[in-house]
Amino acid sequence: MISKKMEKALNKQINLELYSAYIYAAMAADFDAKNLPGFAQWMKAQTQEEVAHAMKFYGYVNEAGGRVVLDAIEKPPASYASPLKAFEASLKHERVVTKSIYHLVDLAKEESDHATSVFLQWYVAEQVEEEAHADAILQRLKMVGEAGHGILMIDRELGQRQSAPAPGGEED
Ligand code: FEO
Repeated sequence: MISKKMEKALNKQINLELYSAYIYAAMAADFDAKNLPGFAQWMKAQTQEEVAHAMKFYGYVNEAGGRVVLDAIEKPPASYASPLKAFEASLKHERVVTKSIYHLVDLAKEESDHATSVFLQWYVAEQVEEEAHADAILQRLKMVGEAGHGILMIDRELGQRQSAPAPGGEED
């Protein structure tokens, strides 16, 4: 059974994951509006992944005897000056999420809540990937600069991203 303090912190994380989904959905819409379907597809897959992250927390809170309470989701930015700016924002956001996961890990340790500590390890590893993916694309965007040809090449490539299977359950 999780503490009230942990329940509140995990509910806050659900909100942050759903906000992440909202940010990426807004980025997808911006890319669609700018005729960059590959970038948009990548962001749509990322949106689904974030919803899955939120629902994995949701499942855990319930299982651990807590109560899921959903809060309002902040409005995300609607547009970015360039794909580079969008991926800069994405990497910055993922670093915020990583910090938030680390705070949860610290709280679980403080409370000797071993079950939640174990549960959170999946997210610790996932955040390494999240940051690495955003950074890899960002570095390539820096390499090609504003050149239309390079952007279109990356757009084609990113369009091949499939939605990841939901974390947790049988796929783990
Ligand atoms: Fe769920 Fe991108 O962190």
